Amino acid sequence: MMVPQHVAIIMDGNGRWAKKRGLPRTMGHTRGAQVVEQILEDADDLGIRYLTVYAFSTENWSRPAAEVKALMNLLRTYMKTSLAKCAKNNVRVRVLGDKTKLAPDLQAAIANLEKETAGNTGITFQIAINYGARDEIVRAVRKLAADVKDGRTDADAIDEAALSNALDTGGIPDPDLLIRTCGEERISNFLLWQIAYAELYFTDKAWPDFDRAELEKAIEAYGKRERRYGGLSE
Ligand code: IPE
Ligand code: IPE
Ligand code: MG
Repeated sequence: MMVPQHVAIIMDGNGRWAKKRGLPRTMGHTRGAQVVEQILEDADDLGIRYLTVYAFSTENWSRPAAEVKALMNLLRTYMKTSLAKCAKNNVRVRVLGDKTKLAPDLQAAIANLEKETAGNTGITFQIAINYGARDEIVRAVRKLAADVKDGRTDADAIDEAALSNALDTGGIPDPDLLIRTCGEERISNFLLWQIAYAELYFTDKAWPDFDRAELEKAIEAYGKRERRYGGLSE
């Protein structure tokens, strides 16, 4: 099996999964949070080096306050309780997105988990929270503009690598495969710059039903794709 180095996932369908079972939407999120922990282990086991998941978008604040709160609490629990597991599995955690809008205790828990796992050499697990690709690009451009203003760089020296590096994903290779669950075939403001040449894979499975077999199916489909990068096939 040809395994992609970096897999990104738009974990969608928690609400629909719950609704179908007569459960509150938040139960779908709780189940979804369990699934992502299992998929991280499966991805690692399959040899994937980077796993990036979309947990909360800049647009998701528009949901009912109770749902936003439930999602933030799940993220809080993960940040505060997973250090031992990350240490055991040699997982490096990074959070993408504008963290300044998150609750102070959540910001602190994220900073701590990032710091404590920074030296881990196994799979890199990136979680996008209050993440929007357009917001990320704007923040990166501001950073570069400040560098020019303060004389740290020259406007002419800004190239694709410089912008890549200024993004939240700086230093991480671009995704090879982007998976979206639960039928929707759109990007919803995720990693717009980084997926320039990613292979896209859509499945009807809702995220709470996603499992190792589904991940393997996506990898198998990826293996059959021919990545030409604008060139010609052999
Ligand atoms: C994905 O599931 C999780 C988040 C976006 C936070 P949804 O909550 O979007 O579930 P659906 O799409 O409404 O079913
Ligand atoms: C994308 O899912 C965001 C996350 C998975 C966190 P949404 O459910 O928010 O996307 P739309 O609204 O269907 O585009
Ligand atoms: Mg959705």
